[in-house]
Amino acid sequence: MRIAILASGNGSNFEAIAQAVKEKKIAAEIVLLFSDHRDAYVLKRGEKFAISCESFELKEFPNKKKYETALLELLNQYRVDLVVLAGYMRIIGKELLAAYPKRIINIHPALLPDFPGLHGIKDAYEAGVSETGVTIHYVDSGVDTGPIIAQKKVSIEKNDHLADLETKIHQLEHQLYPEILAKIVNEQ
Ligand code: GAR
Repeated sequence: MRIAILASGNGSNFEAIAQAVKEKKIAAEIVLLFSDHRDAYVLKRGEKFAISCESFELKEFPNKKKYETALLELLNQYRVDLVVLAGYMRIIGKELLAAYPKRIINIHPALLPDFPGLHGIKDAYEAGVSETGVTIHYVDSGVDTGPIIAQKKVSIEKNDHLADLETKIHQLEHQLYPEILAKIVNEQ
C-alpha cells in the first residue's frame, strides 16, 4: 500500500509513522510527504527518512479549488492509495474526498465529537474536564467529523499543567496512530 502523509507543521506524528514503517511495523510505503507550508519542520523530518517531499501553499493559487486540484494531481502522480493527515490543518475539499472515499484518515488530539478544531488539547484543558484523549477517524467534509476508527483516553490530573497534558496526548498519538494504521493497511 502506497501512503501519502499530509502535514502542516512540526511533524512528530509523521515521524512516529515513518519510524514504524522503517521498522516494518506497518506493511506500507510512504511514497509522499506533502506540506502546505514550504518552511514546515516536518519537511526536514521527511528528508531525514529519505521520503519524497513536496510542498506548495494555498496562497500560490487563485482559489482553494485550484489548490486542491494540484494536490489531487500530486497524489495521482505518486499513485497514492491511502492519505494520512498528521497535523494537516485544512479542511479537505469535495474533489479530494470523492477521489479517496474512506481512504483519508485523520488524528485529532481530543475525544471527538468533543473539542474539534485547531486547539483540541487546550480547549479540553480549559474546559476543566477530568479526561480527554486521542481520536483517529475517517475524514469527511466537516472539521474533525467523520466515522471514528479508534479512541483512547488520557486522564487530566488536578495538578497537570497544559504542557503536561500536551506531552501525554502526543505520547499517546505517537503510539496509537502507527498501531491503527498497521491494522488498516492489513485489512485492505
Ligand atoms: C497533533 O496533535 C494532531 O492531533 C493535531 O495537530 C498536532 C500535530 O502535531 N491535529 C489537529 O488538531 C487536527 N484538528 P505534529 O505536527 O507534531 O504531528
